[in-house]
Parts: sequence; structure tokens; C-alpha cells
Amino acid sequence: MTDTDPRTRSEAASAAAPAPAPHPATGPVPAGTSTPAYVYDLAAVRSAHARLRSWLPEPSTLYYSLKANPHPAVVSVLHRLGCRAEVSSPGELGAALEAGVPASDILYTGPGKRDEDLAGALAAGVRDFAVDSVHGIGQLDRAAARHGVRVGYLLRVNPGGGSRGAGLRMTGDPSAFGADAEDIRDHPERYTGGEHARIEGLHLYLATNITDEAALGDSLGEAIEVARTLYEAIGRPLRTIDLGGGFGAPYAREGELPAYPGLAARMTGHLDRALPGWRQHAPAVAFESGRYLTATCGQLLTRVLDVKESHGQRVVVLDTGINHLGGMAGLRRVPPLHPDVVGPEGVGPDDADRTTATEPLGPAMLCGPLCTPLDTWARSSPLPAIAPGDLLRVPNTGAYGLHASLVLFLGHPAPLEVVTDGGRVVRSDRLTFVRSAGP
Ligand SMILES: Cc1ncc(COP(=O)(O)O)c(C=O)c1O
Repeated sequence: MTDTDPRTRSEAASAAAPAPAPHPATGPVPAGTSTPAYVYDLAAVRSAHARLRSWLPEPSTLYYSLKANPHPAVVSVLHRLGCRAEVSSPGELGAALEAGVPASDILYTGPGKRDEDLAGALAAGVRDFAVDSVHGIGQLDRAAARHGVRVGYLLRVNPGGGSRGAGLRMTGDPSAFGADAEDIRDHPERYTGGEHARIEGLHLYLATNITDEAALGDSLGEAIEVARTLYEAIGRPLRTIDLGGGFGAPYAREGELPAYPGLAARMTGHLDRALPGWRQHAPAVAFESGRYLTATCGQLLTRVLDVKESHGQRVVVLDTGINHLGGMAGLRRVPPLHPDVVGPEGVGPDDADRTTATEPLGPAMLCGPLCTPLDTWARSSPLPAIAPGDLLRVPNTGAYGLHASLVLFLGHPAPLEVVTDGGRVVRSDRLTFVRSAGP
């Protein structure tokens, strides 16, 4: 018996243990989907949004951070649910506009903005920005003056300290993100703006991917305290305090979105003490999320291209890798990925319930198609017997999937992106990269 013999695998399948349950958030694989393919289910986006809103204090604004997944169908559904858009590049701005988000609902953030990026955003009608430095304020003021408009900005703050329990801490160390809280407190006049760009709020984003409620409460509580101190130091009314987020989500493995049942009550009390006008939007309180809103809507489908023994280890080569998922994995930023086996052949609804074998064959090295040893999702994956043509699925890849990857390296086609709504396919397309003449 070899692990490349389809007949043997089918027999093993017929004697198999119960079929794996469909992925809870994403359901069965749409029939006729070619691989590699991302499948995003809008019903899962709606459900994540309802969950996140239920954990937030009211009233509050929720921004969707497009960096997690700028697919227009995803952005559009979140906007229709009431989210504003947080964008950090001309590409994300274009994606938000394409999705139907009006410029008045867009916040343009990011630590490095080119003059032409600001000019493009202003021309598109964006009037809300976040800035990260004294230079950034002057740059925005000059851009607004050239455009003949007045704009407001949120001043991003880099407080001292940091958040415990965070997947990725964003502040407290030397960083591109934000101005030092101490400098703002001691020299507020440096940060209040010029004639065309005036401070209208504060922007905090202390950490991401905090799954523990107490740790998230501490992080957001720290943000509230920093905002309170700086609000006093600035000494003028501010329109918005954007407390950021840090809401966690499973990444490329089975798992549920975390629950934060006590967060709203804890934050409400804290906000009442620190920013007493917040219930009357004076200032309005805002939050941002990318991964919580989209992680569980997505799955990545991939086929096995080759299986071989290499110096005593089984090596499985897939039709996708760090070019489509886990570019950050290639950079050793995420743990090993272990896909589920969906079935040996097609991807119709019947196949979605099939599995190829029950017996693990021993760990396999799981590689993508790129010509670099970095294109390895796992050095030791507990895969059963699989063969070329088999279909695998990586769950919970709706956030930081395709758009956090090394898509141009080696020039493989981008994966298909299929959008479903409760399992029904509503859209299917593919990004293409086109070389065009530059100025
Ligand atoms: C300013 C800002 N907003 C929002 C996000 C989105 O984070 P997440 O996807 O973890 O919600 C990030 C992530 O780094 C960020 O830096």
C-alpha cells in the first residue's frame, strides 16, 4: 500500500470513521470550485459582526479595518451593517469606494503616507485622517491647503507600557505608530494642527488578537486612561476617541471567535468616569476590528500536487502556499498550518463529506509550490494518507489570508475568490496583476 494509490485510499475511505463535520462557520465547499480558492461566506461575516457589536459599549462607532480582507463583497456587507471603513493605502481606499462606502465614512490611517496618497484621498472626498507625528500633521495641513479644504485628524498615540495577553503589541516601544504620549502631554501645542488640518480626536491601537477578556479589558482600559490624560492636556473639545481594538480570532485553524461578555459593562463604567460626555458623543467613542469581523468567514481550498518520500519523510506539495496564505508564516510570524482533508476528488457537495483515510501515516512536511524552503506551512503535519488531486481546506482564513501574503513571488495566478451567502455562491472572481507604464 502506498499513499499515492487512489483505489486503496477510496477503500480506506469507505471503511472510514464518521465523516468530518462541515466547517462550522463556512459550511460545505461550493461545487465546481477550482483550486486554489478562497471561499468567503457573508452569513459568517454578519454573525461575527453581531457578536462583536454585542460586546461593545453603546453608543460607539465600529470601523472595519480593510487590511484584514479588502474584498468588496466583504467590505460592502460590513458597511451595510453600519461599519465605517479604516483604510491605510490607496489600494484600500479604492477597495472601500468600490464597495460603496462613501468617502465621508472613511478614516485614512497609516504611519507613512506619500503626498500623492493624501492628494488622492482628498480628491476622493476623504476628510478624516489619522496622523502619527508632527511631520505628518504638517504634511496633511499642506495637502489640505493645496486642495482648498479643511480636514480633521485623529492623533495616533504611542503610550508607554504595553498590553499583556496580546498576540502582537503595537505600542510602548520605539515604533512608526503614533506620537509618544509623554511628548503630547508635555507639548500639546505641537500636535493641535494648522489652518487646514486640525486635531479632532485621538487614535489608540495598543495591541491585536487578544483572546482573553480580562487582558482585552486591561488593554482598552489603558487606552481610555491615556485618552483621558491627553484630552485634559490638549484642553479643547475633541470629536472622537478611537480606542482601537485588539479583538482576537482563530487564524488558519479550527476554533471559535472569543467571547467578551463582561467587556461592555466594564468599559461603560470606565468611560463614564474618564470621558463623561461619551454617551452624548462628546466625544464619540470608536473601535476598530479587522480579524474578528472576517476571520471565520473564510476557508482556503487547495489541492495536493505531489506526494513523495524525501530522506525518510513524507513530503506533500500543494497548489498554494505562502504566496496565498501565511506570507507571514514564511517570515516565521505564524505557527504551522495543518489543513483538513476534504476529499479525494471533486469539490461537489457530496465530496465535501468524504475523507480519504483514517490512519495517520506519520507526519508530513507540507510545502507550497514556490521555489524557496520558506514556502512550508508545516514541517510535521499529522495528515492521513493523501495523494495528488486530494482536496484540503484551511479553515478560518477570512482575515490576513490572501492580502497578507507574498502574491507576486514566482507569479503564480492569484487564487479564485468565491463569495457565498449561507452556502449559495453570489460572486466568484480572481485578482490579476497587470504591468502598466509608469510616470
Ligand atoms: C491601527 C490598526 N487598526 C486596526 C487593526 C486591525 O487589527 P485586527 O485585525 O487585529 O482587528 C490594526 C492591526 O494591526 C491596526 O494597526
